[in-house]
Amino acid sequence: MSHHSNDLRETVRERYAAAAVQVTEGGTACCGPQAIEVDDNFGSTLYAAAERDALPAEAVAASLGCGNPTAVADLHEGDRVLDLGSGGGIDVLLSARRVGPTGKAYGLDMTEEMLALALANQKKAGATNVEFLKGTIEAIPLPANTIDVVISNCVINLSTDKPAVFAEMFRVLAPGGRIGISDVVADDQLGPDQRAERGDYVGCIAGALSFTEYGEGLAAAGFTDIEVIPTHAVADGMHSAMVRATKPTAPTGTTAQAPARPTSFDSCSAGSGC
Ligand SMILES: C[S@@+](CC[C@H](N)C(=O)[O-])C[C@H]1O[C@@H](n2cnc3c(N)ncnc32)[C@H](O)[C@@H]1O
Repeated sequence: MSHHSNDLRETVRERYAAAAVQVTEGGTACCGPQAIEVDDNFGSTLYAAAERDALPAEAVAASLGCGNPTAVADLHEGDRVLDLGSGGGIDVLLSARRVGPTGKAYGLDMTEEMLALALANQKKAGATNVEFLKGTIEAIPLPANTIDVVISNCVINLSTDKPAVFAEMFRVLAPGGRIGISDVVADDQLGPDQRAERGDYVGCIAGALSFTEYGEGLAAAGFTDIEVIPTHAVADGMHSAMVRATKPTAPTGTTAQAPARPTSFDSCSAGSGC
């Protein structure tokens, strides 16, 4: 990894360590980019009230996501789920309830302070089918073919090596496994400079991929049935989006598909859990 990438990752780690400490001291971590007003585009209002009410208050307060990946992923009893960049653990704890005692929910995060907060939240929730792992999403500390569903909430945009993240998701998924991700995605016509004008890197804006870049990155890693669908705007020309794709059950050779590009912009109000 280059010096620049290392520095950027350390800046991201420091930003989220501070957010975790803020929650641990009784505040809230929300919200996203400093360049736009603090609003309902990020954080716990993106979940249904019933989901929030079932969790420890600190897990809800720590929510820094831009969607509800557990709804995007359509989890089932018995699924083995991995949340990339699990933060305070909100999506891991929701997943654990969905998959039940025969399933398992893993959370992976590189920030010690977030992991401490997540472990405390797991204890408060009394969840036993949960495990938090320390590591990076570019080098996932799990064996190949062991996960049914990879979820993630507003984290992949923060990675300085997105092809490595896509390759790692593909590696850990069992054949037939799938991804259900919420992330910030830019309109195709916005170049890197225009994305950076709209918000900073640690605030989940400047590092966002475009729709085409996201789809092509997933296809290059081997995924099929790729969808990148906007749900709500987070800045001018930047959207929170649902990302879905599947790892084929058998090697497909050249069958990677072009991403399904939405033809219309679907707005979706905060709180509906989309
Ligand atoms: C915007 S927060 C989202 C947290 C959580 N998914 C949520 O919805 O509240 C980003 C999280 O990803 C973690 N993170 C960022 N880059 C990472 C990387 N390369 N590897 C592992 N964790 C990372 C941060 O430590 C932080 O907890």
